[in-house]
Amino acid sequence: MLEYDPFVTSGTDLYSLYDRLRDEAPVYWAEETGAFVLSRYDDVSAALADTDGFSSDAMRGVLMGAPTGTGEERLPRSDAIGMLVAVDPPAHSELRRIVSRGFTPRQMAGWHDHIDETVRMLLDAAPTDEPFDVIAGLSARLPVRVIAALVGADPDHEDRFRMWADAATSVMSGSARLTGIKQEEAMAMMAMAADLGERIDARTEAPRDDLLSAIVKAQGEDVLSREEAVGFAALLLFAGTETTTNLIGNAVAALLAHPDELERVQKDPGRINSVMEETLRWDSPVQYVFRRTTRPMDRHGVTMPVDSNVTLLLGAANRDPRRWGDDADRFDPDRDASGHVAFGFGPHFCLGAALARAETASALEHLLPRLRGEATSGDVDWVDSMQFRGRHSLLVELAPLHTGA
Ligand code: HEM
Repeated sequence: MLEYDPFVTSGTDLYSLYDRLRDEAPVYWAEETGAFVLSRYDDVSAALADTDGFSSDAMRGVLMGAPTGTGEERLPRSDAIGMLVAVDPPAHSELRRIVSRGFTPRQMAGWHDHIDETVRMLLDAAPTDEPFDVIAGLSARLPVRVIAALVGADPDHEDRFRMWADAATSVMSGSARLTGIKQEEAMAMMAMAADLGERIDARTEAPRDDLLSAIVKAQGEDVLSREEAVGFAALLLFAGTETTTNLIGNAVAALLAHPDELERVQKDPGRINSVMEETLRWDSPVQYVFRRTTRPMDRHGVTMPVDSNVTLLLGAANRDPRRWGDDADRFDPDRDASGHVAFGFGPHFCLGAALARAETASALEHLLPRLRGEATSGDVDWVDSMQFRGRHSLLVELAPLHTGA
């Protein structure tokens, strides 16, 4: 029997389950979560683009247990408290215009040096006489450092930011959904909101040349309330850490599993971008997003009633042979992976995609010349989240510093 549930199923056999979902039940009902599941590329990308028929307020409803709109009625911007990802147009367009000020090409240019510097610093500290954990030593630390810098925090506070990001992940899409929120997790979330609030107040008083100042500075009518700014900063921490950690980890794991591809990219670093895009498609860091139907929707002979929660399986759409051909399950950096939906599609397309790509490219550029091979093999220790796909740990052998491959 075919059994899949977004908040129950995780692990290695996900992709064979996706094959069956696409073929046997392209509109599947997942009882436990109480959501339909769409898995074919055409259905997923059409729903991502259709903000009239599919509301994003389910991203708060399902992930946070918060109220949503009903039918065609949308959640007002004031109720969304900065959760850009959960707001529908036209309020979404207003919010996105404001926060995009923090992600301009000029801002991005400034981040590149910081990213390279951080990657070098982390790899310089890597041991060469014992296995190096790519996750703990590099990919979990880089995005947190970057986000901490974006919100103007001291790099020494990296551990606190990591703890807050882990608590948010566990509460929204990990085991805390089943076991209930632990006291430490609730306290971590409160501490995070208090810390971000103080930073925002400081920027409102005395703006600096940073992301928080860019989003709290009023430009005509375009302004975020304090609550919205705190909510948006918290969203960045959640959206920009575990995701990027997993992209870096998944890319290294894919290369280790395909030694010929590892050798090719080590010889020709010009292939790093293709490796990264193929990893996004082949082993997507974000496996799904949620939507709510604003009216009854028919797909493949099934009617999803109004106000149904719908899971859009990005990870399955990115492996659909109808879109990618019969070898969709093959990791092949030579394929044209453009059109993958790993960063979503349409108005909610990931705001941090360029930043995530810059971090991953830098991590691979510096790591790959020193990467000798995997240090251990065995069962994968998956992260505590069904929505995110990645490993807790990935042990590798590194060549000593500066000697190259
Ligand atoms: C590999 C890393 C990443 C992946 C795979 C990823 C994936 C996604 C996806 C799938 C969405 C669309 C959600 C939806 O349609 O409901 C999204 C939205 C978003 N992402 Fe990312 N993300 C990554 C990194 C980042 C980073 C580094 C940041 C910021 C620092 C970020 C910030 C956001 C924001 C703010 C949104 C909401 C955009 C909107 O609703 O308009 N993401 N991301």
